[in-house]
Amino acid sequence: MELDVELELPDAADTEALGERLAAGLGPGDLVVLSGPLGAGKTVLVRGLARGLGVAGPVTSPTFVIAREHRPLPGGAGVPLVHVDAYRLGGAAELDDLDLDTDLADAVVVVEWGEGVAERLSARHLLVRLTRRPDDVRVASVHRVEERP
Ligand SMILES: Nc1ncnc2c1ncn2[C@@H]1O[C@H](COP(=O)(O)OP(=O)(O)OP(=O)(O)O)[C@@H](O)[C@H]1O
Ligand SMILES: [Mg+2]
Repeated sequence: MELDVELELPDAADTEALGERLAAGLGPGDLVVLSGPLGAGKTVLVRGLARGLGVAGPVTSPTFVIAREHRPLPGGAGVPLVHVDAYRLGGAAELDDLDLDTDLADAVVVVEWGEGVAERLSARHLLVRLTRRPDDVRVASVHRVEERP
C-alpha cells in the first residue's frame, strides 16, 4: 500500500477494494480513522475492510447504534472488526464510554468521523482521508500516524 499519495477511486467497488487491500495489513490492536464528508464513501470502505478480514456482515450506516462488532467468519483472518460511527458522538468522554480500548486489544477498530477524537485510543493509527470530487470520483489518501513522545 502506497502511503501519502492520492488514489483515484472512480466507483464504489474501487473504494471497497481499497478497504480490502488495507485489511491485509491489519491485525488485533490496529486502529483505522476515516475522515471525509457525508457520502464520501467511508462506510463503503469499511465494507471492504470487513470483506478483507472475513467477518460477518452486513456493514451498514448505523442510525442508532454507534459501535457494532462484526465477528470473524470461518476461513477469515480470525480478527473481529469493530465499526464505530462517531458522527453523533458528543465528544471524547462519550467515546471513552464505549470502552473501545478493550475491543482494541483483540480487534481491528475503525472509526468514521474519528479524526480529532479517536486518536486517544492508540498512539498510532492509520488515517484514511476520503474526498469527493465534483465529477463524483472519490480521492483517498492513506497515512500512518504516530504520536511523537
Ligand atoms: N467511488 C466511490 N466510492 C465510494 N462510494 C461511492 C463511489 N461512487 C459512488 N459512491 C456511492 O456513494 C455513497 C457513499 O456512501 P457511504 O455511506 O459510504 O458514505 P459515508 O462517507 O459513510 O457517509 P456518512 O458520513 O453519511 O456516514 C454510496 O451510496 C456509494 O454507492
Ligand atoms: Mg458512513
